[in-house]
Amino acid sequence: MRLGSIVLFVALCSLSAYYIYEPIPEEIEERWKLMLTNSFFRSLSHLADFSELVGLKDYMGVMYFITLAERVVPLSDQHVKVTEQKFDGVEVVLYQPQHRGGDRELSRAVIYLHGGGWCLGSSRMSPYDLLARKIVTEMDAVVLSVEYRLAPAHHFPVPYEDVYRVVKHFLQEDVLAQYHVDPERIAVSGDSAGGNLAAAVSQQLQKEPGQQVQLKAQALIYPVLQALDLNTPSYQQNRDMPILPRTLMVRFWSEYFTSDKALFRAMMANTHNNPESSNLLKFVNWSNFLPETYHKKYNYSAPAVVAGGGGAGGTDGATRSLADPRASPLLVPDASLRSLPKAYILTCEYDVLRDDGIMYVTRLRAAGVHVTHEHYDTGFHGGLMFTVWPTDFLIARRMTDNYIKWLMENV
Ligand SMILES: *[C@@H]1O[C@H](CO)[C@@H](O)[C@H](O)[C@H]1NC(C)=O
Ligand SMILES: *[C@@H]1O[C@H](CO)[C@@H](O)[C@H](O)[C@H]1NC(C)=O
Repeated sequence: MRLGSIVLFVALCSLSAYYIYEPIPEEIEERWKLMLTNSFFRSLSHLADFSELVGLKDYMGVMYFITLAERVVPLSDQHVKVTEQKFDGVEVVLYQPQHRGGDRELSRAVIYLHGGGWCLGSSRMSPYDLLARKIVTEMDAVVLSVEYRLAPAHHFPVPYEDVYRVVKHFLQEDVLAQYHVDPERIAVSGDSAGGNLAAAVSQQLQKEPGQQVQLKAQALIYPVLQALDLNTPSYQQNRDMPILPRTLMVRFWSEYFTSDKALFRAMMANTHNNPESSNLLKFVNWSNFLPETYHKKYNYSAPAVVAGGGGAGGTDGATRSLADPRASPLLVPDASLRSLPKAYILTCEYDVLRDDGIMYVTRLRAAGVHVTHEHYDTGFHGGLMFTVWPTDFLIARRMTDNYIKWLMENV
């Protein structure tokens, strides 16, 4: 009896140690904190898999717990006036500096798009709420945080279109005047999937006929920028990194397009390209667009092209979406990049999405767009959002400060 419990105790201890312990690169600061944080994410992910398997609740439905757990009610305070509204039918949270009366100068504005793989996240999560307030107080700017609808309930292009509708509504002279915003000083920004939406909106807006007000800047924080090659060196190197392992990113991509699991399986194997998307592989050729240091240890081989996209062909919409630059902003020719607003791109070494960001840096610069590239050698995906106790990281503060500094100087 007693021996039995000891054995059980030891087994549990080693299981949990094994579970928490993961080879996290030495360079990463606060490694133990990151391991613990990540063990929570992994446990939830396993729970979500189990729940989907036994038919309780689908995977993303369980993962959505992260969003709910960090949800706050955004309230006005002494410095920031917060209102929740609908812009052209889409929910937004608007943060404005509290009025100091008189005929003050027009403010700058930042349209912010939260991350979460198009499936999770909300403007109303505390890290996003805090970031918005910080931008308002430090820049004396208006922040428009968009509560776009999420996959899998709303597949592509719904999340993108929600964002685009809000941006078009906001960028009207009379609407900007109502919020005291200077039409010449507006940026769009977002992290992860939000960075994807920000890049896509920047591209589409410059093609919009009759669009008077344009964006001045785009700030992309570890953005997702392409779905065609999910075996870039950063996907290979960071396959099992904390917060965003490759499997989860592939899951987000496939759920963005369809709930048909065939696409997930094809994307896992990197055999999801079809003859239509294969013509665009040249735009994400990492042997050309990554500086040598990032690809020298890897031999380039183009993703396999399978008629029908490796079994994902049953989902015709998904096949077309793969080649759509509104989902993968890297898939446009150079001519479409030339007149884009200046860009800030943040990348992290330990992130599957590192190479998406770096390839966009290379391509934008080659097209003559002014780009500030900030690469964090010890950074991991999601870093900027870890500002709230107990999952607060030093790197989040550095990232936030540098990001806001860029906005201050460039918007
Ligand atoms: C990618 O670039 C390499 C080296 O320049 C080249 O050999 C290869 O054909 C290219 N592949 C595609 C799909 O563009
Ligand atoms: C890349 O190709 C070279 C030459 O064929 C080979 O020696 C090397 O082992 C390959 N590296 C990888 C990571 O596959």
